Amino acid sequence: MESNYQDRIPNNVGLGTNRTLQRALEHWQPEFLNWWHGLGPSDFNASSVYLRTAISVDTKGWATFDYVKMPDYRWGIFLAQEATDRRVGFGDHFGQPVWQQVPGEHRSTLRRLIVTQGDTEPASVEQQRLLGHTAPSLYDLRNLFQVNVEEGRHLWAMVYLLHAYFGRDGREEAEELLERHSGDADKPRILSTFNEPISDWLSFYMFTYFTDRDGKFQLKSLAESSFDPLSRTCKFMLTEEAHHMFVGDTGIGRVIKRTIEVMKELGNDDPIALRKAGVVDLPTIQKYLNFWFSSSLDLFGGDSSSNAASYFANGLKGRPDEIKYEDHFERESSFTLELPDGKGGVREERIPMRNAVNEVVREAYVRDCEKGLARWNRHLEEAGYPYRMTLPSTRFRRTVGSWANVPTKPDGTPISREELNAHLDEWLPTSDDRAYVHSLMKGVFERGKMASWIAPPERGINTQPVDFEYVIFH
Ligand SMILES: [Fe+2]
Ligand SMILES: [Fe+2]
Repeated sequence: MESNYQDRIPNNVGLGTNRTLQRALEHWQPEFLNWWHGLGPSDFNASSVYLRTAISVDTKGWATFDYVKMPDYRWGIFLAQEATDRRVGFGDHFGQPVWQQVPGEHRSTLRRLIVTQGDTEPASVEQQRLLGHTAPSLYDLRNLFQVNVEEGRHLWAMVYLLHAYFGRDGREEAEELLERHSGDADKPRILSTFNEPISDWLSFYMFTYFTDRDGKFQLKSLAESSFDPLSRTCKFMLTEEAHHMFVGDTGIGRVIKRTIEVMKELGNDDPIALRKAGVVDLPTIQKYLNFWFSSSLDLFGGDSSSNAASYFANGLKGRPDEIKYEDHFERESSFTLELPDGKGGVREERIPMRNAVNEVVREAYVRDCEKGLARWNRHLEEAGYPYRMTLPSTRFRRTVGSWANVPTKPDGTPISREELNAHLDEWLPTSDDRAYVHSLMKGVFERGKMASWIAPPERGINTQPVDFEYVIFH
C-alpha cells in the first residue's frame, strides 16, 4: 500500500478507498486536537520543534526530520508491511493463516487489549504536560516533545484499529480514550502507573527508561498476535519506541555522570554536600529507580494468570520473540513460581507454562532493564567509585500478583511490616527527596546550555550538534 502523506490523515492503509472509515476518523481528528490543546504539552504549541515525523514505513520515510509546530505534526496511520503467508506463531491455532479480520469469539478480548494499550499512549502525554517549563536544555525539550507527539501517534494507531475493525463499539472506545485522564479522580487512566504524576525530569527519565520499556514488551507481545493488523501496527510502533527508551537511558546516565563530576570536585560523596552543590546524590537516584521499576513491573499483570493463558491459547497476545522459543504450544510444560508462604518465607509452586506467560515476559523485561544499569555502573566504575545502581527484586513494593503488599527488602527478602516502615525512607523517595529534586527543576532555554544537575549528551539528534537550536520560540 502506498503512503499518502499529503492526505489530511497521512496513512499507508488505503484510507482514501474507504470513505466511511475516513469520515469517521476525520470526525475523531478535531476531538484529538482538542485533547492535545487541553492536555498535551502546555504553552509550547507555537514553537518550532526539530521533530522526526513518520511519513512512510520504509527506511527513508519513517524518520524525516524538520522544524514543526506540534499542533501541525502529521499524526499518521502506518502499519508495517504485510508479510507474505504469515502464520499463527503460538497456541492452539499454531500454523494456521493469521487473521485479517477479528474472529467473533475474540472480539471483546481483542478490543480490551487494544483499548488498554491505547489508553497508556495519551496518558503519558498528560502526565508530562508541564515538564517543558523545566527542561534542562533545548535538546531535552525537543526529546520530550518527540516522545509526546509519538505517543499521540500511537494513540492514532490504536484508534485506527478500533474504528476499522470494531464497528460502533470501537468508535465509542475511541471517544473514551480522550475522556479518561491521567490522575483524574472520576475517570482515571486504566493502569495505575499512568496515573502517577511526572513533575520532574528525573522521573521523566525513569519513566521513559522503565515504563516505555514495559511498552516495548507489550508491543512485542502484541506484535506476535494472530490478528495481523494489530501485529503490523505494533511492529511499526516499536521503531519509534526505541527513541523513548534512549531518552531515559541516556538521561539517567547523564544525571549520574554529572553527580560523579561533582563528587570528584568535592572529593566526597556526602549527599548533603552534593545537594548543596546542586546535583542529585546517588542514593536518591537509586530510590527513584526503585519506585519506577517496581511500578512498571506491575504493568505485566499477575504472575499466575488465566487471562494470559487464554490469550496465549487463542493466539491473541504472545511472548516477545516467540520464534526463539522451542515449544510454541506449551500444553504440557510448566513454570516454577516463587511465592510468599504466608509465614514470612518463600515457597515454590509449579504452574502450567501458559498461566505463567506474564512472568516469562516480565523476566525478559528485567533482563533488558539490566543493560542500562550495566552502562550507568560503568561510569561509576571508571570514576573509581564503589557505589553501584541495582535493580530491586521483582518482589519489592509490588501491588499486583502474588507479592502484592508483601513487605520485603529491595533484595526480595520477606520482612515484617514494621521493618519495612522503618526503612522506607532509605528505599523510596521521601517527600524531602522529591522537594529537593523539584528545587533543581528550572528551565534552561539558552542554546547549548545545560542545567547544572545533568551532563550534556554525547551527541545531538540526527547528527546535529548538541548546541543545535532544537526548539525555536516564537
Ligand atoms: Fe507509545
Ligand atoms: Fe513510548
